[in-house]
Amino acid sequence: MSGLSRIGVAIDTDLLNKFDRLIEKRGYTNRSEAFRDLIRDELVEQTWESPDSQVVGTVTLVYDHHVRMLNEKLTGIQHDFHHSILSTLHVHLDHDNCLEVLVVRGKSAAVRKVSDALISTKGVKHGTLTITTSGAELK
Ligand code: NI
Repeated sequence: MSGLSRIGVAIDTDLLNKFDRLIEKRGYTNRSEAFRDLIRDELVEQTWESPDSQVVGTVTLVYDHHVRMLNEKLTGIQHDFHHSILSTLHVHLDHDNCLEVLVVRGKSAAVRKVSDALISTKGVKHGTLTITTSGAELK
């Protein structure tokens, strides 16, 4: 069982002022939650560095569906990696552009592989992989 620990941190005043302004802009009502979020970010990031760790994330793609064979290529890649893809959302942004968001889960290395394959496909204008966690190991 995990308890609550209180810690004291020595920090340069200018740095702390900058941090306070930043977290206020982001809507934090106290420093403790902001510090906890920074720590969680680092822990999640570290999980992803290990290729065998189980991870969850999203891949966001923007592309022009008129590019020849692009839809077919992206669908082909998704079928090749169907074990890693839980769900896909497709939005027709305008006459030309599509937005796709894929929810991915699996070993870190496999999730990165499918993400890299999709984002590097010719005709994809922008793509990002967002790293997150199932939350099971974070308080
Ligand atoms: Ni579309």
